[in-house]
Amino acid sequence: MKVLVDRRDGLTAAADVSVSGVFERGEKETSFPRALADEDTASAGVVRAAWDRKEIRGKRKELTVVHRPNGKGRLLLIGLGPRGRYDAEVARRAAAEAVKGLKGKGARTVGFRLATFVTDTTPSEAVARALVDGAVLGSYEFLRYKSSNDGGVEESTIHLGDDLAREESGLRKAVQEETSIADCVVWTRDIANLPADTATPEQLAEEARALGKEFGLKVTVFDEKKLAEMHCGGLLAVGGGSAHPPRMIVLEYGGGARRGRTVAVVGKGITFDSGGISIKPAASMAEMKFDKSGAVAVLGILRAAATLKVAPRVIGVMACAENLPSGTAYRPGDVARTYNGKTIEVLNTDAEGRVVLSDALGYVVAQYRPDEVIDLATLTGAQVVALGDDTAGLVATDEKLAAGLLAASKATGEPIWRMPLTDFHRELVKSDIADVRNSVELPVAGMLTAAAFLETFVGGTAWAHLDIAGAARTTSTTRRYQPAYQNAGATAFGVRLVTRYLMDAPRS
Ligand code: BES
Ligand code: ZN
Ligand code: ZN
Repeated sequence: MKVLVDRRDGLTAAADVSVSGVFERGEKETSFPRALADEDTASAGVVRAAWDRKEIRGKRKELTVVHRPNGKGRLLLIGLGPRGRYDAEVARRAAAEAVKGLKGKGARTVGFRLATFVTDTTPSEAVARALVDGAVLGSYEFLRYKSSNDGGVEESTIHLGDDLAREESGLRKAVQEETSIADCVVWTRDIANLPADTATPEQLAEEARALGKEFGLKVTVFDEKKLAEMHCGGLLAVGGGSAHPPRMIVLEYGGGARRGRTVAVVGKGITFDSGGISIKPAASMAEMKFDKSGAVAVLGILRAAATLKVAPRVIGVMACAENLPSGTAYRPGDVARTYNGKTIEVLNTDAEGRVVLSDALGYVVAQYRPDEVIDLATLTGAQVVALGDDTAGLVATDEKLAAGLLAASKATGEPIWRMPLTDFHRELVKSDIADVRNSVELPVAGMLTAAAFLETFVGGTAWAHLDIAGAARTTSTTRRYQPAYQNAGATAFGVRLVTRYLMDAPRS
């Protein structure tokens, strides 16, 4: 989607559809709101008539299309709910609902009247960014395997109008920046949505190489031979059952500041998680193609970091393998020796994410001595049980890092919730015969025992773990309850969040 900024009021411009926000009318509110006066004039009184007959009430998700009298163009009024509960996230969802509602309705271009979405408590820049996210992400569809498609909105313009034209240069920069980020999210979704026959570990390496070429990033791919030399026994164990061998992929962005800090971003890249010998039930196995979402998010974050030239140096590590049962697969009872020498007793081959991450975390900490490590992983079903499909779990051993990520979450609307890591969880992952075990007999706090396991491989480095098992994708059921900018399939959760963190977080 192309996104533009225009100084003019949206009603005077010539987009196919001009979109305005409408706040919900109060219980006793009968008079026609002044905020809709321009829309009313443009529609020659139709908007007021619709308001009077309570067709327009401003409820969230309410879409009202009004045709202009000359037949040229339409107005779309989108409900924003009560003023008191409004924030940028409401605008983000509304923009997505608008472009979705217009799909297949002959609207190629839309113009958002920015001023109708701005309030005293939601500044114009945050709202403009939210509208961009909503429009770009809301119109996303995974089309690679579709032979036909109803046309959707192709171009969105953020219209400033008289009041906001004074802020033009700042808003222009914000819109451009946010469009770049949203484009990275779309790019990430396209890869995360690929099925496992196509998105093999080697194919993900190919994507990384191509990205590196385009943006001048250093990309190193460790194949199974090299992984064996490096003693990456975790990746080799998990990938051992598949005809598509494992890869560890490292991407380096040098940083925009001269002596900036180094942030490592590590992702779980299981291209398909059948569970292995501890095989999963058939019911929802198909969605395990999304088990690579953490690693693919790392690709998207590196793309965004390089596009926006963020200050920190960023090292991306993707731990990629396919978890399948076969005669060469790893088994329950096996012990894997990982990159940093620590050993893992494998009790359940379906707890494979932590096993591949052990090598990636051990490697990046030893080789790059980063100031901070952030990992993203579709790690546990327990995360989904605890927090649902919209909110990722955060575990952090560093207060500044946690605070920075929580602030970024607030700004981007990608929800995360911090969970504790205690000695109880650390005790639970100790093994009788190895350093750690990958599964625990007590069916408790599965997200946190997984985190305790990972902590073993980060040592004392400031670390944040994002378990994105639920938020990485929507299913046909959960999709109904999610914001309109989360379409069917991969969400690329974490790309906007971590990119925002890299852009904002001040560090001494
Ligand atoms: N990839 C799954 C976690 C998952 C579950 C992601 C549902 C998305 C949706 C992971 O590898 C897994 O199977 N974890 C096991 C761990 C257990 C065996 C200790 C789980 O959560 O059940
Ligand atoms: Zn698994
Ligand atoms: Zn998995």
